[in-house]
Amino acid sequence: MPRPPASPRLKTRYVCTACGHDFAKWAGKCPDCGEWNTLQEEVVEERSAGRGMAPRTGFAQPQKLSEIRADALPRLPLEIGEFARVLGGGIVPGSLVLVGGDPGIGKSTLLMQAAVLTARNVGPTLYVSGEESAHQLKMRAERLGVGESELYLLTDTNLDDVVAAIEQMRPKLAIIDSIQTMYLDSLTSSAGTVTQVRECASRLQAMAKSLNTACFIVGHVTKEGSIAGPKVLEHIVDTVLQLEGDRFHAFRLLRSIKNRFGATSEVGVFEMAGSGMKEVLNPSESFLAERMMHAPGSAVAVTMEGTRPLLVEVQALTSPTQNPMPRRTANGFDYNRLFILIAVLAKRVGVRVHDQDVFVNVVGGMSIDEPAADLAAAVAIASAAKGVAIAPDLAIIGEIGLSGELRTVGQLPARLNEAAKLGFKRCLLPKTTRPLENPPPGLTLIHARSLGEALDAVMK
Ligand code: TYD
Ligand code: MG
Repeated sequence: MPRPPASPRLKTRYVCTACGHDFAKWAGKCPDCGEWNTLQEEVVEERSAGRGMAPRTGFAQPQKLSEIRADALPRLPLEIGEFARVLGGGIVPGSLVLVGGDPGIGKSTLLMQAAVLTARNVGPTLYVSGEESAHQLKMRAERLGVGESELYLLTDTNLDDVVAAIEQMRPKLAIIDSIQTMYLDSLTSSAGTVTQVRECASRLQAMAKSLNTACFIVGHVTKEGSIAGPKVLEHIVDTVLQLEGDRFHAFRLLRSIKNRFGATSEVGVFEMAGSGMKEVLNPSESFLAERMMHAPGSAVAVTMEGTRPLLVEVQALTSPTQNPMPRRTANGFDYNRLFILIAVLAKRVGVRVHDQDVFVNVVGGMSIDEPAADLAAAVAIASAAKGVAIAPDLAIIGEIGLSGELRTVGQLPARLNEAAKLGFKRCLLPKTTRPLENPPPGLTLIHARSLGEALDAVMK
């Protein structure tokens, strides 16, 4: 009688969802990366050598650098200009791109649009979904206005089958929606666990490179705000894009966090419309469209998103309160910086709001994380506290130090040009020792050394 097969050697391990390392024992804090509550129990098979690694695709011979042709593979064109720019100018054949973002933010919509356009302009494209039925996908594609094209759909979650389908079909672009729903049969842990996500991504990376098929994978963000197994995934893929925004606002920002083929911190701006994601070609104009002129508490900051200047309205509201601990609320603005600005306003220029609630809001669901918007926020708070409106044709740039001094910020020419382009007549900015070369014509520069000087200049 044949002997029953030896049972696979299973063991329980605790895998960190932040760094991907696994441990024999559970702990509240990951011994490796130090994050709290990230260890997840997984049943894994004892690894034998080479297990779970990408299949070998032949021996690589060393090549002389000078003999390698860098221009051999042109990028595939992508007709969504904002998306293409974030990628560094089109899709690189054989690249693996992770697109992360909150559920419902529009990842599937954007990638379906990219798939439709690639299928029409480049060649066969495969959209693999583990989340939606073919019927649902078809409905979405029709909503996005797809015509007759080389777009193929596959609904499957078994990655071996998906890879087999891709190997057979050899599409120019494959989209996997989402990496958390895919699983490899050879692993015992369930779909969405760190082990599965990591191994599936490695498998796709090996496939993308060997077939020279570009591959986009969707990754959901966990409630802590990171893509499950983010560090491990980030190491495996070539490019990490993050789709951000606020579900209640139409604007969406596509940000590049890592890019082996282009600049990082590039940003594409989209708007969720009835027929998919529309590119916003003049984002500053859109962000300022609903501005109420001559209202106290509103100031326009010129921030940079990557290499692109963006003008955004910063609003502040102050309201008297009996509460011994007045409220400070920041929306789209750094909460701790708000405290610093309030302290500097009180101590250096005598604008006291200790008996008032202070709310600061960046309009349009945008969030600013560079200190160049300090001055605009401080001016908005002072304007709200004093009930004096700021002139609507004034743009504001500058970082504030703890002594109330203004510090200059980078990329001034680009910021000033954008402000001038949008019709701003004056710009408040820190005084520097080096005069600015070629300031845009029609824009009067108001230089200030300190927050006090700045407020004197704009709130008369
Ligand atoms: P979806 O792309 O499914 O989000 P994700 O894949 O990131 O989870 O889209 C989410 C929302 O977008 C959904 O609530 C419906 C809305 N939507 C539009 O407003 N317009 C459209 O054309 C489409 C397809 C979706
Ligand atoms: Mg989706």
